[in-house]
Amino acid sequence: MSEPNPSATEVELEIQDLSHDGRGIGRLDGRVVFVDGALPGDRVLVRLLPQRRRQLHADLRRILQPSPQRRRPPCILADHCGGCSLQPLSDEGQQQWKQRSLEQALQRIAGLELAAQPLLVSDRPLGYRNRAVIPLERGEDGHLKAGYYRRGSHRIVNMNRCPVLDPRIDGLIAPLKRDLETSDWPVDRHGVSDGGLKHLALRVGHHTGEVLITLIASDQDLEGLEAMAESWLERWPEVVGVSLNLQPRPTNQLFGPNTYTVAGRGWLSESFAGLKYHIAADTFFQVHTTQAERVVPLMLQGLGGSQDPAASSSESLLLDAFCGIGTFSLPLAAAGWRVHGIEQHPPAVELARLNAAANNLGDRATFETAAVAAALPALLDSAEALLLDPPRKGLEPHVMAAILATPPRRLLYLSCDPATLSRDLGLLCAEAYTPRSVQPIDFFPNTSHIEALAVLERKA
Ligand SMILES: C[S@@+](CC[C@H](N)C(=O)[O-])C[C@H]1O[C@@H](n2cnc3c(N)ncnc32)[C@H](O)[C@@H]1O
Repeated sequence: MSEPNPSATEVELEIQDLSHDGRGIGRLDGRVVFVDGALPGDRVLVRLLPQRRRQLHADLRRILQPSPQRRRPPCILADHCGGCSLQPLSDEGQQQWKQRSLEQALQRIAGLELAAQPLLVSDRPLGYRNRAVIPLERGEDGHLKAGYYRRGSHRIVNMNRCPVLDPRIDGLIAPLKRDLETSDWPVDRHGVSDGGLKHLALRVGHHTGEVLITLIASDQDLEGLEAMAESWLERWPEVVGVSLNLQPRPTNQLFGPNTYTVAGRGWLSESFAGLKYHIAADTFFQVHTTQAERVVPLMLQGLGGSQDPAASSSESLLLDAFCGIGTFSLPLAAAGWRVHGIEQHPPAVELARLNAAANNLGDRATFETAAVAAALPALLDSAEALLLDPPRKGLEPHVMAAILATPPRRLLYLSCDPATLSRDLGLLCAEAYTPRSVQPIDFFPNTSHIEALAVLERKA
């Protein structure tokens, strides 16, 4: 096969698929070519880029024949901003791709011939995100820029609106930018910590409307911050707190370890699955509240239990590994399970305990601060069921080995990455478990992220 010549100026491609991160995939002389911004069904003119790690990438020059599923993106910045890569694909096109992509991963990586349940579609493809962490920088003209990075770069695409955000936080971006602009506070350059602002973080309680504003900076020396924070509370009654998070290190971790409340409170109240929650600026919470609520009955169904605590006689122990602030632990406890949550972020565990107490579930839902790999093995013996909701990288080998050695009867695995979910399901189902169902749920419309809940049952 002849090597495609990257210096050859431009070539035509038919785009056949999307990669896991939403890039168009075409083929040239039998080799895969990734094209940012191209969609399945597009015929495009591209310019090949120098080969990177044995992969061919190409710049989209022109769409010669658009895919029938191509649409005008709802966001005017969609062609530049790296935030949501599927905006130009119709809602139906996105949903079909997510379904297919999950099923292909289950087949290819896990070797499971299991049809996933039909995707649970979001009735709110825009305006759903309850949280934003927006990079800040000063442009060459000295003006403050706020926005997400252009795909594959660290150049900010300046924005005043972001239509996937809940309108109650979207509407704050422009006025907050103006205030930060006039503050004269320094702003860090990307990858450098020189004492300035780094990110603007916003969070809203979907059901309560309460809003938290957080500035992430590499130094706390921001003169006049208290007065500015107080003025925001006065101006916007829905804003219940303003915090400063210190991230002194130039790292990919957006939040640093210390958050200080500058005005109001450090948490917002929210209701989730009918229960009361406190959520802080720097603790994990599912970004699409109503879609996440739909997962609770699916979990209960997978556990073979009832949603009605009175009707449930189960006193069995369910371990919630990677439990965060108790998002799922508490509805499962309310349905009759005795739940023990494991979470390594101490502020999240504090809130999980507070949330359990606020719902009179303190005796049914307990929590410990620990790494799952350290705490889980000793607990598995006494557990009837295990809920796993790990970060994207999935389960560590040590955690997998412990589960395979002492598998609880029922296992639920909630994942935001079909590749690591499939890898882990392949291992779990090779030995210990039978897969009962895999349910994709659209938590992230207009982006290439795919959430799924797998329900497994121990083999005899
Ligand atoms: C995807 S979130 C899920 C949180 C929770 N289940 C929810 O739905 O809100 C993963 C959580 O695991 C925690 N985490 C990540 N790695 C961990 C580890 N090795 N041990 C314990 N917790 C961990 C994170 O702090 C985060 O709260």
